[in-house]
Amino acid sequence: MTGSTPVIAPSILACDFARLGEEVARVDAAGADWIHCDVMDGRFVENITFGMPIVEAASRHTRKPLDVHLMITRPDVYFPRFARLARSITVHVEAEHEVTKTLASIRQSGLAAGLALSPATSLASVEPFLGAFDILLVMTVVPGFGGQVFLPEMLEKVRMAARWRQERGVDFRIEVDGGITVSTGRASLEAGADILVAGTSVFKAADAAEEISALRGRGRGRDLG
Ligand code: DX5
Ligand code: ZN
Repeated sequence: MTGSTPVIAPSILACDFARLGEEVARVDAAGADWIHCDVMDGRFVENITFGMPIVEAASRHTRKPLDVHLMITRPDVYFPRFARLARSITVHVEAEHEVTKTLASIRQSGLAAGLALSPATSLASVEPFLGAFDILLVMTVVPGFGGQVFLPEMLEKVRMAARWRQERGVDFRIEVDGGITVSTGRASLEAGADILVAGTSVFKAADAAEEISALRGRGRGRDLG
């Protein structure tokens, strides 16, 4: 899996919500592979973003897979309400639920199951669930807000997870989320990430298509350098 074309997943948290449909269509046309939806409940994290109605509205403006990231205390209770809309659902290992059971239920719904860990959580805490998730989401900022600065220490988790994948024969994709720019994205890909979530860098770019292709490792002379 490593070395294949990375998946670029713009996070709608950075879009202009007054024009949600146009914004989703804009990054879709600009080459987004997936559309990342950051759901926050004001309990698991210190912020409230949006829930099902916004994800449903976004889904009407793209055919790209919706990647739903639940930063909520009870993902087991709420994920079924997103299941019809999403292609992948990611829950946090730190949330209040039976992780193995939630991941299995997500898979039973026909979706890819993601497991996320916050910066303060050690990679060892997701080790017991190897084989039970399809995506490991390594948070590269403290979850809660867009527009934060990438934490380079998190790259070690990405490297270690990529090593697990190789050495233990388990298959999962590694997603990084938070503070992703062309340079932090490149560092993440080099460490073994496959999926880059990028809110601010894509939605606030002068040219979203150029930004997405630069994140993917093309354009802006990156292929020459
Ligand atoms: C943070 C969210 C991220 C965030 C990324 O809690 O999970 O997805 O929106 O936004 P940027 O790319 O602006 O850091
Ligand atoms: Zn996210």
